[in-house]
Amino acid sequence: MTLSLSPRNEDRPVLVARNIAKTFGSVEVLKDVSLSASQGDVIAILGSSGSGKSTFLRCINMLEIPDRGHLEVHDQVVDIRDGRVDPRQMKTVRRHLGMVFQQFNLWSHMTVLQNVMEGPLRVLGQERATVRDRAEALLARVGLEGRFDHYPAQLSGGQQQRTAIARALAMEPDVMLFDEPTSALDPELVGEVLALIRQLAEEGRTMIVVTHEMGFARDVSNRTVFMHHGRVEEEGASSDLFHEQKSERFRAFLARTK
Ligand SMILES: Nc1ncnc2c1ncn2[C@@H]1O[C@H](COP(=O)(O)OP(=O)(O)OP(=O)(O)O)[C@@H](O)[C@H]1O
Ligand SMILES: [Mg+2]
Repeated sequence: MTLSLSPRNEDRPVLVARNIAKTFGSVEVLKDVSLSASQGDVIAILGSSGSGKSTFLRCINMLEIPDRGHLEVHDQVVDIRDGRVDPRQMKTVRRHLGMVFQQFNLWSHMTVLQNVMEGPLRVLGQERATVRDRAEALLARVGLEGRFDHYPAQLSGGQQQRTAIARALAMEPDVMLFDEPTSALDPELVGEVLALIRQLAEEGRTMIVVTHEMGFARDVSNRTVFMHHGRVEEEGASSDLFHEQKSERFRAFLARTK
């Protein structure tokens, strides 16, 4: 099944995050972080633990409300003032973003098929037979045919994460956000999930991937962002950045992860 074959288009941002700021208590976790993704971009976000990568992704889909900043997704502009947003704008933005978490976050009381059908049925209000056909096709595509009636606890971590990816795809998002999608997996299961994400990249899906998998970032992403202490320390074309780094910190980070 072909999900998307849109070519890369540098001129058309599908996601813009500008000057996103977030403070927890007295800790300024994000200090004016900006990022823009064009159709077909695969952006790797790298950085040490605590640099703000997850918080930034969570601010983009408003699982955390930024203190201030500006977001645009699918032509919906969200202006954030004093940590407040219009709930309708938030809903529109969320509808166009798919999120995949480190810990899968599947609904444990639902089967694999129900997990994938839930969003299109409840949020998009689509017709059950169509939703089922599409969910089955998506699950087959991520290699889970024959497992439709399994519960998450009956699956390996890799199978659970592939289900979570199918669940996100079922909402037909404009942009997929991945927060360390392979960090919770046993080493032998990492490859199958990275292979799936790589396929999605090759189909032209727009994706932002927080990862510690440097080989994956270098080979699959076309742009890389390196965060340090809540700021973008360095960013650019992955082909350049993995070759030569301006930031001494980024160079040291890459050397440590080799
Ligand atoms: N809900 C919260 N309340 C208070 N502090 C938080 C909260 N979420 C994150 N933080 C703090 O914000 C900082 C950035 O955390 P974040 O999870 O974004 O980092 P990260 O780059 O994703 O790290 P990791 O690589 O370990 O996942 C950390 O100091 C963290 O303790
Ligand atoms: Mg994180």
